[in-house]
Amino acid sequence: MQYTSWVPIFPEQASTFAWQVDLLYFYLIAVSIAFSIPIVAAIFFFGLKYREREKYATPDELHDSIVLETTWSIIPFVVSMTIFLGGAYVYFEQYTPPTDAMEIYVVGKQWMWKMQHGTGQREINELHIPVGRKIKLTMTTEDVLHDFFVPAFRTKADVVPGRYTYLWFEATKPGKYHLFCAEYCGLNHSGMGGWVYVMEQKDFDNWLAGNTSGQTPVELGKDLFQNKLGCASCHAGGPQQRGAKLEGIYGKEVKLVGGQTVTADDQYIRNSILNPASQVVEGFQPIMPTFKGQVTDEQLNGLVAYIKSLSGVTGTTGGTTTSSPPATNTATNSASSLPSNSMTPRRADRGNSGPGSNPNAPASSNSNR
Ligand code: CUA
Repeated sequence: MQYTSWVPIFPEQASTFAWQVDLLYFYLIAVSIAFSIPIVAAIFFFGLKYREREKYATPDELHDSIVLETTWSIIPFVVSMTIFLGGAYVYFEQYTPPTDAMEIYVVGKQWMWKMQHGTGQREINELHIPVGRKIKLTMTTEDVLHDFFVPAFRTKADVVPGRYTYLWFEATKPGKYHLFCAEYCGLNHSGMGGWVYVMEQKDFDNWLAGNTSGQTPVELGKDLFQNKLGCASCHAGGPQQRGAKLEGIYGKEVKLVGGQTVTADDQYIRNSILNPASQVVEGFQPIMPTFKGQVTDEQLNGLVAYIKSLSGVTGTTGGTTTSSPPATNTATNSASSLPSNSMTPRRADRGNSGPGSNPNAPASSNSNR
């Protein structure tokens, strides 16, 4: 299927947001036309009507018109408020990821997009998703700013070094949709694109089953945590641990040295790995070494996914059939006795979360990100 729209050269409407964005867009155009035409017409009309007929003529006295002035104040006020409310509604819809979405990690890099599914499938410059499912992208970049943009979904978001940003959408019809980088990022910026393949659920299940490859993010993170990076030697839990216990912390408030409190979200976990000294948990010494430069963004995503899984948060994954690899693994079982409220990350969990989890918080001002 190719681009078809009721407006020429307009991208297809292929997500639940599309009609909202388009409605707002055409409303703005209609308002612009509705004001421009009378204004231009009035310029010509008055230009003729009040043209100079004789030199130094004395004009008639002008009188105020309350009715006229009230009308031209109230109409623009109402119009601008509808624009504001419409824009705010669409904005909050788009940038508040739902908690029941299927989570996919995206890493931008000059000049490609790397996607990783919760079930372990990896793709480059392609993204396969099922139709009619909420998809949440957790995105970061290895180098410079990029911007993930799917015109047919009418949504985009910057992908920022050193932090996570989020994008979510629900595709409404199967098809192949162009994906772009929408932030100039160097020589091959224009080539940094690809395709989103929206598939029926059964086709998607087949795709998942046919592309089993590599570790899931949780498995990758577990391997790093327990073996390759040796995190477990301090963080395994137990009485004499030098590091904070990580089971069950995700989504909780954490008290830091100095009295500050932060929410243990993706950004906090990431920052604790890269700038451990900047947000030390109360009761612990700032002895953890930084892992900046030692882990790739993909590995960081894995570590975040693993630490989330210790709190029972696995992120919904794609398949519905048993042929696709199950999302949960042994790592989650140990946490299954945790209270269920640990599974509710904050809904407004956007990239620039609260000041407490800002990676550029004062204590990390020596970092060079
Ligand atoms: Cu990446 Cu432009």
